[in-house]
This record gives sequence, C-alpha cells and structure tokens, in this order.
Amino acid sequence: MRKLTTLGLILCLTGCDGTENNTTTASPEMPRFDATDLIVGRSTWMGTCRNCHLTGVSGAPAVADYKAWRARIDKGEQALYSSALNGIRDGAGDTRMPPRGGNDRLTDEQVKRAVDYMIASVRHFNRS
Ligand code: HEC
Repeated sequence: MRKLTTLGLILCLTGCDGTENNTTTASPEMPRFDATDLIVGRSTWMGTCRNCHLTGVSGAPAVADYKAWRARIDKGEQALYSSALNGIRDGAGDTRMPPRGGNDRLTDEQVKRAVDYMIASVRHFNRS
C-alpha cells in the first residue's frame, strides 16, 4: 500500500491540477459481483491488473476514470480482450501495456474474465 500511495503522490505532483477530483490518484475499494465469471475475473485482476489499473500507473487507464475508459469500452469487448492478451505498443514499438499484464501464467480465459471484471468495475464506479 505504501508503494501505491507514493506512486499516487508522484502522479499527483505531475498530473493534478487541483481543480477537480482526479480519480487516477485515488485507490478505490474494488467492487464484488455475484456472477461466477466476475468472481474469477476479480481474483486475476487483483493479482495482476491491479498493479497498474487501480490508480493508473505508467499511463494505464485507472479503473475509476470513466473518461479514460469510455472510448475503449466503445471498441467492444473483443477488441479489449485482444489488447489485454497481446499487449499494446506505442508508435515507437515500446511496450505500453504488457501482454497478459506481464503474467505469462494466465490463460486466455483468465485474462478475458479479468477484462470483464474491469469493464464491470468501470461501470460500477461511473454509477456510484
Ligand atoms: C504494467 C502495467 C499494466 C498491467 C500490469 C496491466 N495493464 Fe492493462 N494497460 C496498461 C496501459 C499502460 C494501458 C494503456 C495502453 C495504451 O492505450 O496506450 C492499458 C490498457 C488496458 C486495456 C485497454 C485496451 C484498449 O484497447 O483500449 C485493457 C482492456 C487492459 N489494459 C486490461 C488489462 C488486464 C486484463 C490486465 C491484467 C491481466 C492488465 N491490463 C494489466 C498497463 C497495464
């Protein structure tokens, strides 16, 4: 936790303008859902994806930052599965999002369920 707080502070020093509630620096309480797929997805998300997507480390869209997610969600879940499985590189070919969040032990199914959980959580935070 201490590490995340420090990272949040650094992000805030460089990214907070102080005029609005900057969700990329908050550490929200992650929701729980009843659907089995989302319970499985939460477990993977907490183990791997949380590291970057909880507060938005290294340019990752933070889970509570709906503005950062809206256009991504509009691409449809297949596109998001593909990004999560294959990773995302920038124009120079450098890795932005590592394939499978950098955890090669995850199966395709686990990565997809983690994406499902992330989308459900993004919607949850947008409502609450
Ligand atoms: C090392 C940091 C890191 C980890 C760990 C990580 N991500 Fe990401 N993720 C990123 C970054 C950075 C982006 C934004 C990349 C971009 O659009 O340039 C991103 C974007 C995404 C997107 C949006 C893709 C799109 O097409 O818009 C999804 C979905 C995603 N991550 C899923 C996951 C899942 C699922 C996990 C866990 C298995 C995970 N990420 C773990 C850094 C990470």
